[in-house]
Amino acid sequence: SPTSRLALRGDLLDFVAQAEWGELETSALRFQPDHWLLIENGRVQGTQAQAPDAAEGWDLQDFSGRLILPGFIDSHVHCPQLDVIASYGAELLDWLNTYTFPAECRYADPAVAQQGAQRFLDALLAHGTTAAVVFPTVHKVSVEALFAAAEQRGMRLITGKVLMDRNAPPALLDDVQSAERDCLDLISRWHGRGRLAYAVTPRFAPTSTPAQLAMAGALCRADASLFMQTHVAENRDEVRWVAELFPTARSYLDVYERAGLLHPRALLAHGIWLDEADRRALARSGAQLVFCPSSNLFLGSGLFDWPAAHQAGVNISLASDVGGGSSLSMQRNLLDAYKVQALAGRRMTAWSGLYAATRGAAEALGLAQEMGHFGVGTLADVCVWDWAQGPVARARDEVVRGLHERVFAWMCLSDERNLLRSYVSGKIRYSRDEGMKG
Ligand code: GUN
Ligand code: ZN
Repeated sequence: SPTSRLALRGDLLDFVAQAEWGELETSALRFQPDHWLLIENGRVQGTQAQAPDAAEGWDLQDFSGRLILPGFIDSHVHCPQLDVIASYGAELLDWLNTYTFPAECRYADPAVAQQGAQRFLDALLAHGTTAAVVFPTVHKVSVEALFAAAEQRGMRLITGKVLMDRNAPPALLDDVQSAERDCLDLISRWHGRGRLAYAVTPRFAPTSTPAQLAMAGALCRADASLFMQTHVAENRDEVRWVAELFPTARSYLDVYERAGLLHPRALLAHGIWLDEADRRALARSGAQLVFCPSSNLFLGSGLFDWPAAHQAGVNISLASDVGGGSSLSMQRNLLDAYKVQALAGRRMTAWSGLYAATRGAAEALGLAQEMGHFGVGTLADVCVWDWAQGPVARARDEVVRGLHERVFAWMCLSDERNLLRSYVSGKIRYSRDEGMKG
């Protein structure tokens, strides 16, 4: 087939390395104002100041005066919970019982699961998120629907059947044997197919028996290419409950460690109520913590100590955790992350935040050769943003001085309304002017 050549012009911003805490000037940042990003057959081929030659078949798309970033990576988000985003008045355990579990029950219906998956992925793309690690529901059909919808859109998607065999409504419960069968079948059909990968997904310790957690750990041990996702130490009542359910465990995290669930492809959301021994265990295992600031604030869960985790050598990525989180917008979540740090007397630079939402997430997933930056050979998951939308942001953008100040103001004042285009592997998958593509 003929070579497809696409060139995007704009202010290109990405990272070549990890941005260090507190550094306003960093060599990790690569800012190329008014440059062209060259994309051949869906892959980044390079960047340059001059326009490539249209006679050589380049499709030139001029976004000069706009910001071009790698697509955001949301490392923890729940597909079925779009239906309960912004639900009033509850902490985690009440919120699960009152809003979340009833919403997840509806995903037993294949039509609901299919429509929900499509709506969810299109919503991610309309927020500038081009890759995600996702919780569906306990129902096999909800996993199938997500994988199929992601494949249609060419998106990097990591997901897997939620495991729950106790402490949830009967309609959401599986058992060890049927869950294992469903996992093995889904793994054989979807894991490693294109940009799709499987994550062993015990929801959290309270909803799995020790036998089910052991089964999940055995799946991970049998295939080191599998991901694992769960929740840990999010809420104080939850932590107390886990201590009652697992009286011999040293800590909440220890429940997962004993089950063999901590490894370099493991993602554990929240991690607010951990101690130093937990952080050392995470660092030792290579597992990553996923900071979900809008969720932590919205559900009143607590304030994540990012520097403590960073200093212990734990990988951190950032996520929306919708519907506990109140927005799919990574900028909204970065602003909340900044505020959480500010309350503890620390400051998160725009570089630390944007790195975590792009290249940092890709590195932590072991997928930095594929996405998260504009390195040659990566798949072109790219978003085009307005620097400012509306009179307040525009006025601010006119007086900012220096690059960090400008990007920081953008991070704080922008949201999905600033998004013009999302490309996945070089294909337009969202366009503000034309709605969804697919
Ligand atoms: N812990 C267990 N399940 C959930 C969930 O769906 N959302 C959040 N935020 N925490 C959880
Ligand atoms: Zn979650």
